[in-house]
Amino acid sequence: MKSAPIHFGSIAYILDDYLEKNTFSSIFFLVDENTHVHCLPILLADLDNISAYEILEIDSGEDNKNIDTVNNLWLALSELGADRHSLVINVGGGVLTDMGGFMASTFKRGIKFINIPTTLLSQVDASAGGKNGIDLEGMKNMVGTFTQPEMVLVDPKFLLTLEQRQVKSGLAEMLKHGLIKNRDHWDNLVQLPSHNAETLAPFIMDSIHIKENVVNNDPYEKGERKILNFGHTIGHAIESESLETDFPLLHGEAIVIGMIIETFLSYDQELISKIDLEEVCESFSSMYALNTIDMKIFPNLMEWMKHDKKNQNNSINFSLINKIGHCRYDVVCTEEEIRQAFEKYNKWIA
Ligand SMILES: NC(=O)c1ccc[n+]([C@@H]2O[C@H](COP(=O)([O-])OP(=O)(O)OC[C@H]3O[C@@H](n4cnc5c(N)ncnc54)[C@H](O)[C@@H]3O)[C@@H](O)[C@H]2O)c1
Repeated sequence: MKSAPIHFGSIAYILDDYLEKNTFSSIFFLVDENTHVHCLPILLADLDNISAYEILEIDSGEDNKNIDTVNNLWLALSELGADRHSLVINVGGGVLTDMGGFMASTFKRGIKFINIPTTLLSQVDASAGGKNGIDLEGMKNMVGTFTQPEMVLVDPKFLLTLEQRQVKSGLAEMLKHGLIKNRDHWDNLVQLPSHNAETLAPFIMDSIHIKENVVNNDPYEKGERKILNFGHTIGHAIESESLETDFPLLHGEAIVIGMIIETFLSYDQELISKIDLEEVCESFSSMYALNTIDMKIFPNLMEWMKHDKKNQNNSINFSLINKIGHCRYDVVCTEEEIRQAFEKYNKWIA
């Protein structure tokens, strides 16, 4: 599976050029209520080679990343006469690009789609790499496809309307890229005096390149690509559990906690030094407000973890850093080891 080209900067002329050189029977923009208002008008104003299109709008939010939403979208495509020569242009965050990619890659056995990510998290991570999917009864990304978009168009100007909480959520995946693969990227991000759309924009391409290299080496996640899941085994469990409460965490917020607890696991497995452990923990706590985890929910979290896609033979498989900038995969940890890592995190926060 060849990686999709990723273009950064002023993207309208790239899309215009693509639409001039390729003929489609119909074009669909997929947006949510926020990107419909904040992003689509900016994009359309810059495009010259598009006259006829349909807009499909979904409700934003992780709790809508499910088969019901996709079913409605398949029906809408069908009613509007979409065929195998139609094009879908996904304009939104990771929820929308994951779901829009899944919708397009399955409708009539697959129609072409383009991702235009509009959150920091989707620009640096979700929109590229070819993973599309939906949650199943709250279990993250349980159903999906590996299908590459035609291209990914990244314009940091979309980030100017993004809430700061969402920016920090995206920063989590950028920090992950540094921790697993590139110490300089980690240092660059940690050393920034403030983390907002403007200060992070110069580092977006570095993050994209780190992910792109990993994906190109292992597009179907047979080996090295698993390192992108650092922080996600525990983070996804925390995210799924929090979605059932009145105060759901954002994806990146859950992944930050997951990365810290998994760094404690790395230390307990003698993969990293105490100095690295302290640096990771102190850096995260300087950038994020962190809370303890109520150990009463630990059994629920274990249940979510048991459904993680990396598991084999009923054991829980982790990707763990083995120093800052390096990561190992397929590290099996027992429930007791996981519990101890949670307790160490709680003790350190308290
Ligand atoms: N496929 C992958 O490889 C991959 C990788 C990482 C994360 N993900 C997935 O990404 C999802 C999280 O994505 P996310 O953090 O982008 O969240 P999101 O898609 O929920 O977007 C966050 C919010 O920002 C709004 N928004 C989007 N663009 C905006 C803009 N420019 N201005 C104002 N508001 C805007 C959205 O409407 C939404 O309310 C999770 O479901 C996660 O599983 C996928």
